Amino acid sequence: MDDLSPSLDTINDLWQEKFLSLVADYFSGQITKEKILSNIKEYNNSINDLYIETYQKELKKKEIGYDLKFNKIVNTIIISDSIGNARDTIFNSKPKKGFHLIGDKFTIENGHKVSSSLWLTDHTFKRIINDESKSFTYNLQFETEDRMNIDGWERIVLRRMASLLIISISIFLLVFGLLFYAIKSFITQKKIADIKTDFVNNITHELKTPLSTLSLATKMLKSDKNISVSENSKNIVNTIERQNVRLQKLIDQVLNNSLGYQEIKLNKETVNSKEYLDTIINDFQISLESKSIQIDKNIQIKQNINIDKFYFTTAILNILENSVKYGKENLKIIIKANYGKDFEVSISDNGIGIPKKELKFLFDKFYRVGNKEIHNVKGLGLGLYYTNQIVRAHHGTIEVISELNKGTTFTIKIPLQ
Ligand SMILES: Nc1ncnc2c1ncn2[C@@H]1O[C@H](COP(=O)(O)OP(=O)(O)OP(=O)(O)O)[C@@H](O)[C@H]1O
Ligand SMILES: [Mg+2]
Repeated sequence: MDDLSPSLDTINDLWQEKFLSLVADYFSGQITKEKILSNIKEYNNSINDLYIETYQKELKKKEIGYDLKFNKIVNTIIISDSIGNARDTIFNSKPKKGFHLIGDKFTIENGHKVSSSLWLTDHTFKRIINDESKSFTYNLQFETEDRMNIDGWERIVLRRMASLLIISISIFLLVFGLLFYAIKSFITQKKIADIKTDFVNNITHELKTPLSTLSLATKMLKSDKNISVSENSKNIVNTIERQNVRLQKLIDQVLNNSLGYQEIKLNKETVNSKEYLDTIINDFQISLESKSIQIDKNIQIKQNINIDKFYFTTAILNILENSVKYGKENLKIIIKANYGKDFEVSISDNGIGIPKKELKFLFDKFYRVGNKEIHNVKGLGLGLYYTNQIVRAHHGTIEVISELNKGTTFTIKIPLQ
């Protein structure tokens, strides 16, 4: 069956026609301005139910899934001359004070303005005045505003955004959880590191006292002329003494090389960088037993640097010693020095190299690379830790680049000022 209900356009035409004829009555002096307004309101009230019903039917066809109310508000009605200059204002209001023309009833505060329109028309009409048919024309400016209201729009928006909201909250919780976990792990790590340091410091201190007693006792034993000892016993006492000295050295090494950068008290002096590096490298070269190690230098600079010679030498030597310890046959060490923004020394070798994943732990206390090839190389894993602390005490940085089986480069940078 065909839908016989009128369309919204037809209803709009109806009240517009009524309105135009009311203005014509006013124009020809038959009614007042107030009468136009009250009559059009009355007329529209009479057709409003039909209008709303028709509107709801059209809305249903669109299947938007929620209740959408609509109304039209009048803001200005002005009669003007043919070029648009206002001649007579029938109604004029601030936008929010307009009157309800047609559609659903809801307050201005509850509606949202969706559009405004200006209807400009010139209307010609006839009236019989003194038995004479006369033709009049007037120009009209009719300004309206369309407003919409969605019942419970907050709930609708919330429902549509629920999944997005849940995902956002989950991501937020996840990030928060991860952050919490990271901070917790960091604190735990710090605690473990502190415990490790305290333990090492305490145990080494405690070991020193019995060791020095032992050392004194062996010395007394050796120098006591009243005890006649066999050659074998003499050898045993010597072995005890040697091992005792070795143990003391090891403990001293752990104690000294465990210092943090805040504990290192520098005694800086100005030194000529080239002379200084040349001396270290020459001394180091002399100390090497193997003659097959080649050391190349590239130190052109002569500028002065401000360092603690004692500590800085330890740092450089630790790296050089490592190059030899973890070198291969035909070992070649290259030392370069440069001045850029910082004083920069790099030491490269063509040794066994370090796996990429180990690099970030290299400067940790007691860290040694778990590589089978170097298991027979002795060490405490303190050399690079200490080197890094010395560099940090000088407000510098140390970096390492390495490729397995190709070699390693350490670069120390110290700011010039
Ligand atoms: N030039 C290098 N080539 C290859 N591996 C290296 C090199 N330098 C350091 N390493 C690796 O880094 C680890 C840490 O070096 P670090 O100098 O801190 O300790 P160490 O040499 O083992 O002991 P020590 O405390 O006696 O110096 C070493 O065990 C070694 O595995
Ligand atoms: Mg070392």
